[in-house]
Amino acid sequence: MFNLLKKSSKKKVQPIGSVTALGHRAGQTDSRLPPFILEEMEPGHPLVDGPHYHDVLGTLHQILRPEWYLEIGTRTGTSLERCLGNFVAIDPEFRLKKYTLGKMEKGHFFQQTSDAFFDSGFLTKNEIKPTLGFLDGMHLSEFLLRDFINFEKHAGPDAVAVLHDCLPLNAAMEDRDTDPADVRMWTGDVWKTLVVLQDLRPDLNISVLDAYPTGLVVVQNLDAENTALQAGYDAFVEKYEKLSLSEFGVETYFNRFEVLSSYKFIEGLASKASQPKTERI
Ligand SMILES: C[S@@+](CC[C@H](N)C(=O)[O-])C[C@H]1O[C@@H](n2cnc3c(N)ncnc32)[C@H](O)[C@@H]1O
Repeated sequence: MFNLLKKSSKKKVQPIGSVTALGHRAGQTDSRLPPFILEEMEPGHPLVDGPHYHDVLGTLHQILRPEWYLEIGTRTGTSLERCLGNFVAIDPEFRLKKYTLGKMEKGHFFQQTSDAFFDSGFLTKNEIKPTLGFLDGMHLSEFLLRDFINFEKHAGPDAVAVLHDCLPLNAAMEDRDTDPADVRMWTGDVWKTLVVLQDLRPDLNISVLDAYPTGLVVVQNLDAENTALQAGYDAFVEKYEKLSLSEFGVETYFNRFEVLSSYKFIEGLASKASQPKTERI
């Protein structure tokens, strides 16, 4: 039984666990959107009103029970706290305040960039093959693409990569040149990373979830041997670096995928995880 909170058809919160119905902070049961979200919304951008992304991440930990979790971009530790096992956490500037050890047994903190971390060869030297990765470091598309490539290369069997912030609510939020201090939330232009994954890796199983406030992208069917993204990296940067979402087309982008209910996705994943491996599709 996996913990989940579900909205009933009457929009009341029905507790069946710990993925909490939307609220502006993880763990809240208030199902109203904070008013500033509606103020931030620009035409053509979907309302991302599922459960908070920290709660969805926490439920992924409960279902997948990764032996090793890899987190890029930890900041205060709020997302890391959801981990139930061993972890590797990377951030050039930790500001840990919410972090508690919970049930974690082994953990490694690397106060460096993700590029420097992967260059160090730590995972290979220590035979660590993470099976859940949360890629939430630098929010520029080429950084996230490198993080994905590196995670996939080192990931264990049936690993799952989770990308954050691919559903911006407006143009300023996704502008590469926006100073994050000038906006309430800065997603950066990581939406482009989703575009390149869709275009160059049709073999990946990509689910875009309505996790509040700016979405989660869950990527499955990873393949450590696949080099299509590395081969396409330079062309991607050249083509997309300066392109804004409005130039790409807000409608074109959001028509590329369906934004799925996090609740439904979690239910599907949980039921698949409870089947014997041989029966899984
Ligand atoms: C949005 S915050 C992470 C929030 C956290 N995952 C959470 O959900 O609570 C992004 C973090 O990425 C870190 N970061 C910036 N550049 C990075 C890089 N090159 N490699 C890894 N982390 C980076 C920042 O220091 C910041 O703490």
